[in-house]
Amino acid sequence: MAESANPLSLTIDPEWNADTVAVQAGRPARVPGAPMNPPITMSSTYVQDATVEYGRDGNAGWEALEAALGALDGGRAVAFASGLAATTAIADLVPAGGTVALSTVTYHGVRDIFERLRERGRLELRMVSPDDTAAVLAAADGADMVWVESIANPLMVVADVPAIAAGASERGALSVVDATFATPLRQRPLTVGADIVLHSATKLIGGHSDLLLGAAVCRDATHAQRLVTYRHDHGAIPGNLEAFLALRGLRTLAVRLDRAETSAAEIARRLASHPHVSTVNYPGLPKDSQHERASRVLPGGSGSMLSFEVAGSVEQTDAFLGRLHVLTHATSLGGVESLIERRARYAGDAAVAGPTLCRLSVGIENVEDLWADLDGALRAVFA
Ligand SMILES: Cc1ncc(COP(=O)(O)O)c(C=O)c1O
Repeated sequence: MAESANPLSLTIDPEWNADTVAVQAGRPARVPGAPMNPPITMSSTYVQDATVEYGRDGNAGWEALEAALGALDGGRAVAFASGLAATTAIADLVPAGGTVALSTVTYHGVRDIFERLRERGRLELRMVSPDDTAAVLAAADGADMVWVESIANPLMVVADVPAIAAGASERGALSVVDATFATPLRQRPLTVGADIVLHSATKLIGGHSDLLLGAAVCRDATHAQRLVTYRHDHGAIPGNLEAFLALRGLRTLAVRLDRAETSAAEIARRLASHPHVSTVNYPGLPKDSQHERASRVLPGGSGSMLSFEVAGSVEQTDAFLGRLHVLTHATSLGGVESLIERRARYAGDAAVAGPTLCRLSVGIENVEDLWADLDGALRAVFA
């Protein structure tokens, strides 16, 4: 693990494992009387003359979270108001008229940002399947930036991050990896050559569906500084309470993720032989098309997200979702509670998601209660 960049923080031992870093990084230095946690400073302005004079300039709470995320990913973290605020700032690193090779399977909000920039003539887009590493690298040729998700939304396609990062670097393109589904506990793209990692900390890092926050973690300090300037100038700053909560969420990420991932693997296994399910997408399943690559690039586990197609109509799928009562029919992911939704209801996902594709974010409830809910609702609809 990298040394924490924040001098106020507890020193991080380079020998510590990531789950220990997640618990310890970003705490105040351990001196007599020091609090265990960073302060929540609710102030829009500060007494002059200082580096931080106004709320957009900085905040001890963001710095603590940034120290922790930076230590985990091995770079300089910059926290933002949301994952999409961070995405917008990263997109601004592309020079005017530049080219971005963008994965066709990405969170639709990210695709929308790039599409609108393209429509306005700000940049060119080359859309490319993340499943085809050679095609990604061909698209990276002459491009300024390559954008993939470690585990892509909503089909759970696993990108070959080490190959893409190395190939992009050879071609002079920045590689950006949205590691929201993998988290720094399952993949650390900067350590295999990627330039920037995006986290929607709204999801697994926060872990409780009670905040929105994003972070970009950069290998290069110049990129980080440009993102800090962008955040300041555009006011894309996280709330201090949100930063505090995200850091608190990070403390328990390892145990939440382990539990949710074990349940996700079990649910995926059972769904794969369910009479009312036609397809299951979970890279941890030995028969999944992504399994071989996932074993290589996500050796710690395939995460807590899966998707599956109901073997029936859209109406039957919606009826199934309406019958669930342990799982909540809601968007988003990564919280302690399990969430499920039909992704094709979003225009942006209809091109990649079949009409009955349900994306399931597995939480930390008892797996047998989750299974009874899913299986019971499916059987009731088809009875
Ligand atoms: C993979 C992924 N990246 C980025 C985002 C955007 O994050 P936020 O909602 O924090 O803006 C999301 C949101 O769903 C996401 O799923």
